[in-house]
Amino acid sequence: MHAIEVAGYGDAAQLRYVERDEPVPGPGQVAIRVALTGVNFADIMARRGAYHAGSPPPFVPGLDCVGTISALGDGVENLNVGQRVAAFVDAGSYAQTVLARDVLTYPLHDRISDEAGASLLLLVTAYHTLTFAGKITAGESVLIHAAAGGVGSTAVQIAKHLGAKPIIATAGSAEKLGIARRAGADVAIDYTKEDIKAAVLGATQNRGADVILDSVAGDVFAASVEAFAPFGRYVIYGMSSGKPGEAKTPTFHTQNRSLVGFSAGHYRNLRPAVLREGTMAVLELVAAGVVKPIIGARFPLRDAAQAQTLVESRASHGKVLLDPTA
Ligand SMILES: NC(=O)c1ccc[n+]([C@@H]2O[C@H](COP(=O)([O-])OP(=O)(O)OC[C@H]3O[C@@H](n4cnc5c(N)ncnc54)[C@H](OP(=O)(O)O)[C@@H]3O)[C@@H](O)[C@H]2O)c1
Repeated sequence: MHAIEVAGYGDAAQLRYVERDEPVPGPGQVAIRVALTGVNFADIMARRGAYHAGSPPPFVPGLDCVGTISALGDGVENLNVGQRVAAFVDAGSYAQTVLARDVLTYPLHDRISDEAGASLLLLVTAYHTLTFAGKITAGESVLIHAAAGGVGSTAVQIAKHLGAKPIIATAGSAEKLGIARRAGADVAIDYTKEDIKAAVLGATQNRGADVILDSVAGDVFAASVEAFAPFGRYVIYGMSSGKPGEAKTPTFHTQNRSLVGFSAGHYRNLRPAVLREGTMAVLELVAAGVVKPIIGARFPLRDAAQAQTLVESRASHGKVLLDPTA
């Protein structure tokens, strides 16, 4: 089969289109013939050697996919060869065939497109950060950073469905602000030019945001904790800026504010049943047409380097997909 391999840590030139043996499922695993896989920002961090759950090169990147089950390992029940599924995979999904654990493999409703199924990680991340981590309730305000991106644009849609108000979105260009507004944002700020604190306080009668979803960290974190409501929940789930955020502990204890981390990968390894609960809930929202992941671009698998370059250059919006059948 064909796959993409990261030959060494570094830039996108490290991605090679290679020939590999078809993997064989072990106990509790299924093999999936991949129809589409997603480019996730974590794949870029892993390629740079900066992903907390990464592997040493050479490795096949990729965390999620949609496809058809081609073989079952021992002990797998409730899944069948030929079934269309989405999955969090065991080893890289930038490949024509991949293995996944049965508990992390989800049969797909006919109403869920392959494109939406291949957006599994971003769907689950958007849902978990708002609900399990952010504990958002109707009528609360939410600040969503990088809101035209894969996770961000989906989080805006889910926040709207859950009754959040106002939904304040940030993004890095005028075009992206339009995408965030069309996804359901009430207020959209270009955080590369505008003052985050002033804009959020202005949109929330000076209270600050009740829930904050931050995947950028660095300076964005520092500015956002200044615009954070009492009893608020700050969900930090990434570091696209490449810099950690810093804050002083009294920011939290003096006003009953919480700082909550989220990692789907850590849930996947240690609490797959909880991850499954959120996954089933968000897939129902997709099947019902409430949530529609925005597909920004699609590339043949062999052009994975071009796809990753698009995402890391901040020029992409929505989900970027790779097609191993093209
Ligand atoms: N914890 C988890 O389990 C989990 C799961 C999935 C994703 N994530 C995180 O969520 C974030 C979004 O992931 P995604 O796959 O949907 O990617 P994405 O949002 O589609 O792409 C990343 C976006 O981050 C913004 N960004 C801000 N500073 C950046 C910088 N210095 N370099 C590059 N981009 C920068 C850019 O949007 P603007 O131009 O609008 O700023 C860019 O388009 C990433 O940080 C990812 O690691 C975490």
